[in-house]
Amino acid sequence: MQISIENKPDPNKLLDWYDSNAREMPWRIAPKKRLAGIKPDPYHVWLSEIMLQQTTVASVKPYFVKFTTKWPTIQDLANAKDEDVMGAWAGLGYYARARNLLKCARLIANEKNGKFPEANEALLKLPGVGPYTAAAISSIAYDNPETVVDGNVERVISRIFNVHTELPKAKKELSTLAKQLTPEFRSGDYAQAIMDLGATVCKPKIPQCDICPWVNHCISKRKGTSKYLPRKLGKTKKPTRYGIAYFVERVDGAILTEVRPPNGLLGGMLSLPSSEWGDTFHDDPPIDGDWEIKNDLVKHAFTHFDLNLKVMHVTANLEQVPRRGKFLGPDELDSNNLPTVMKKVWKSIKY
Ligand code: ADE
Repeated sequence: MQISIENKPDPNKLLDWYDSNAREMPWRIAPKKRLAGIKPDPYHVWLSEIMLQQTTVASVKPYFVKFTTKWPTIQDLANAKDEDVMGAWAGLGYYARARNLLKCARLIANEKNGKFPEANEALLKLPGVGPYTAAAISSIAYDNPETVVDGNVERVISRIFNVHTELPKAKKELSTLAKQLTPEFRSGDYAQAIMDLGATVCKPKIPQCDICPWVNHCISKRKGTSKYLPRKLGKTKKPTRYGIAYFVERVDGAILTEVRPPNGLLGGMLSLPSSEWGDTFHDDPPIDGDWEIKNDLVKHAFTHFDLNLKVMHVTANLEQVPRRGKFLGPDELDSNNLPTVMKKVWKSIKY
């Protein structure tokens, strides 16, 4: 779909709005500073964009600060131990991102002299970098006119052009329209401006059209359809899975832990032992003993299913050898480094 010139919203209007309304973010170079010639650190842009995949800006902020304090450069991150990075990522979810983050950091540090590529095509070859992240790094870090399309941008574009095709089918059409709006100048600011517009003005439930710099070009505003867009295919109900978490406390205070298999859910994360998660509870204790069953189930929502965990507790003596897992003493195990679902199990026992 080609946009006729008189209908095309003016990128300068959006950029003017961004100049006075840009959100502050620890990885962001404010528009005034960018205009004064200060460039963002590609390491910061990459790290933030990986963290922001499927995660909100508010949740990412403290993790970004923690990571850049511990590992100020990509070389520092590349030299970090796997378990330290996985531990620092705990709580942010989607742990495949952390594994790819390390792979990518090591590749850039060891094979690319610490420098991220600038072009979309080269960025797309990096572990954990898909079309959205490649475009974000190319535009935000290097000011290339690449088009960034996230959920915020899809909402803005579907409303401006009154696109009623349902997502995800509409993705291609929205992306083609978004491309035609992307200017050749101030590309990094523009990419962030349109995301900010979606997040703070063109909001999902109640769009703030009275303060929108593009309101005069918005077809859905004229037709009164903004709040129904973008249309989404009805979500199917998530299934529920069941499992058992085993809290094994040795008399000296050590706790039995298990590293999750590398490629499944929570892959590579330090965890408390559990049974497989399936259609029913399937008991598979890591050690023999007089197990006590806790009354309350621990519930956790993953993207594709809800998990109900039964929690079982036992005390072990110093001679007992578990069938799987490893005991870690109080100074070796920080419960903050466990994935959120296991933190919930921990709290159900410890508080
Ligand atoms: N969401 C993902 N990346 C973003 C960015 N750079 N600015 C604003 N929102 C974002």
